[in-house]
Amino acid sequence: MSLEGKTAIITGAAGNIGSATVRLFAERGANVVAIDQPSSDFSSITGDGPNRASIIVQPADARYPDQVSAYVDTAMQRFGRIDIFFNNAGIIGPMKFIDDYTLDDFRTIMDINATGVFLGLKAVLPIMYQQTSGSIINTASVAGIAGSQGSIGYVASKHAVVGLTRAAALESAARNVRVNCIAPGPIAGPMIDSVDRGLGRYDAPDRMAYVPANRYGRPDEVARLVAFLGGDESGFCNGAVYTIDGAKTAEI
Ligand SMILES: NC(=O)c1ccc[n+]([C@@H]2O[C@H](COP(=O)([O-])OP(=O)(O)OC[C@H]3O[C@@H](n4cnc5c(N)ncnc54)[C@H](O)[C@@H]3O)[C@@H](O)[C@H]2O)c1
Repeated sequence: MSLEGKTAIITGAAGNIGSATVRLFAERGANVVAIDQPSSDFSSITGDGPNRASIIVQPADARYPDQVSAYVDTAMQRFGRIDIFFNNAGIIGPMKFIDDYTLDDFRTIMDINATGVFLGLKAVLPIMYQQTSGSIINTASVAGIAGSQGSIGYVASKHAVVGLTRAAALESAARNVRVNCIAPGPIAGPMIDSVDRGLGRYDAPDRMAYVPANRYGRPDEVARLVAFLGGDESGFCNGAVYTIDGAKTAEI
């Protein structure tokens, strides 16, 4: 599935899933504007690799409207259009039960995971409406579909991402603009490591047994789903939640 000639903005681009997606998009011929926090290490997307010259890195914090507008402006000035927006930046937040979860903890995670996604939609959708084309993929989680213990703010914020996706898709579908979200289960990398440490199962020999597939997903597997949803082959996919979770949410 070629992404030749497409321009994509990818947030959380220095992270585990984001960087795999930046690399795959570049390999498939897209121009990529890669966004992550100013303190991020972008070396996993700036080194040697296929078509890396098509990647522009721009530090920005997803919580601030002026920084969001700035990266959208960069994409427009450089490439003149935005075909795909992977609205992916997020944090897991503290692993605590509600009695210890502070208001600040809750506000911080909602600000990044929910308000950040809203700000991205608000900045990119008007451009896609003008183009009468575009595909947005928000990153929710299996925690946007069902609950889990020890991360109430994360669960609430990812349920919000599912709601933002559905509402934005309904407002956009007649203008040939698509808004979907992905709901990954555990994906091998630092985020699930910190969850497993928080839940005390990091060193358990059967650490992954709660996933029916008996393994964690890989970031490149998620990246391929994002490429499918971003590209033309998914033209009638809109307003949906795509789980990628080794059958985790298929369980009763
Ligand atoms: N890893 C998993 O198991 C898993 C499962 C389901 C959903 N997700 C979601 O996938 C997305 C990517 O997660 P990941 O696993 O790659 O984790 P990660 O921590 O490796 O990457 C997240 C990236 O988001 C960036 N980010 C955080 N706050 C930001 C902000 N305010 N502004 C800009 N960038 C910011 C971080 O710097 C980081 O590079 C997140 O939304 C996460 O909630 C991850």
